[in-house]
Amino acid sequence: MSILKVSPKGKFLYKTDKIASDKSISHRCAIFSLLSDRPSKIRNFLNAEDTLCTLHIVESLGASIQKNDNTLIITPPKTFKEPTSALNCGNSGTTMRLLMGFLSSLEGFYILYGDKYLTSRPMKRVVDPLRMIGANIDGRKDGELAPISIRGAKLTSFNYNSPISSAQVKSALILAGLRAKGVSTISEPILSRDHTEKMLKAMGANIRSDECKITLHSMTKPLKPLDIIVPNDPSSGFFFAVAAAITPNSKVILKNMLLNPTRVEGYKVLQRMGAKIEFIEKENSYDSVGDIVIQHAPLKGVVVEENIAWLIDELPALSIAFACAKGKSLVKNAKELRVKESDRISSVVKNLKKLDVQAVEFEDGYEVIGGEFKTATLESYGDHRVAMSFIVAGLRVPITLKDTKCINSSFPNFIELFSNLGNVFYED
Ligand code: S3P
Repeated sequence: MSILKVSPKGKFLYKTDKIASDKSISHRCAIFSLLSDRPSKIRNFLNAEDTLCTLHIVESLGASIQKNDNTLIITPPKTFKEPTSALNCGNSGTTMRLLMGFLSSLEGFYILYGDKYLTSRPMKRVVDPLRMIGANIDGRKDGELAPISIRGAKLTSFNYNSPISSAQVKSALILAGLRAKGVSTISEPILSRDHTEKMLKAMGANIRSDECKITLHSMTKPLKPLDIIVPNDPSSGFFFAVAAAITPNSKVILKNMLLNPTRVEGYKVLQRMGAKIEFIEKENSYDSVGDIVIQHAPLKGVVVEENIAWLIDELPALSIAFACAKGKSLVKNAKELRVKESDRISSVVKNLKKLDVQAVEFEDGYEVIGGEFKTATLESYGDHRVAMSFIVAGLRVPITLKDTKCINSSFPNFIELFSNLGNVFYED
């Protein structure tokens, strides 16, 4: 069931409020509910493999979880439970890295493991700073690779300058800092997605952000519980944005989307390429939320070399827009793409070449020259975002895509929604 055939169906006008709920915020809702002593109420939690891994782990630490239609009530345990078996993070880097920060100061012994893709992703970016503040944490290759083992310890406060802009690293350290004695600071080269800071501040944590530097005080009492409606995920909606941008006479309207500025940069790049995009802000409680309207217009090539941390999940889909644009597009300073769910520079360039699009790979980016596509059989490389990006390419020419199961990690209803835009069927 995991080989998919996709072919063009012509122009479309498509409006939906069914884009998957935000993955980053859903992970944080599950973990942050453990920082309160009262039940958190979470509506529209993302029901996908990655976030369910986080939720199961939160449950095995002793939280009780009640599901009622679209609402999740997470009641934190009075005392945390030491799980009797290893904790499965699946394909999810966010689950593993954020929990490394949280568990490092929690009394007990924990093992975090994941699938073959997660097990080959770098963990020292979190292990090293945690070790410096007293964490008892290890893994294969001196802590670079999962499985990761943790024995909870007393942590000290810290001043950490992260060499990379990564919300996972930042969030792991914030979670550690909240339970380390004293005042800690973390800075990063450019601001990465800032959901952790915003949500914890709303829960009453003493945390202040000033551009790329965060100052936080350790928790002196439990935080307030969450009461939140998770907005829809702009990174998931982006596949539909690119679909509209590359299909003549087409338009999509994405409802109830998260509009946080660190999360909509992909749409801004698409706008620079010529697509017509409108953001309609509706409300702002935990964060800015609203609708996004995307309409086709002829696209031109673009240089992308700034704010890469804000584009890390959108670049695979943007590459399809590059391939449909007039002229050359260039991505630079994007080495981080090599350590995502797959090596996204290599996955994207290999698939584009199979489509007969001219693409060249560099150490820290790639170049694409827009042109006609040739029908081809493509691979997901086990990466949900690569899979969905190349399904969008199927709106141009018929394609076959292998190994599409990974889509379930972030957007289980993707194919159902996409079938309104293109012809899709599974080959058995
Ligand atoms: C995420 C941060 C990003 C992103 C991932 C989700 C998060 O990773 O790619 O999909 O929720 O913190 P990095 O922090 O590694 O850049």
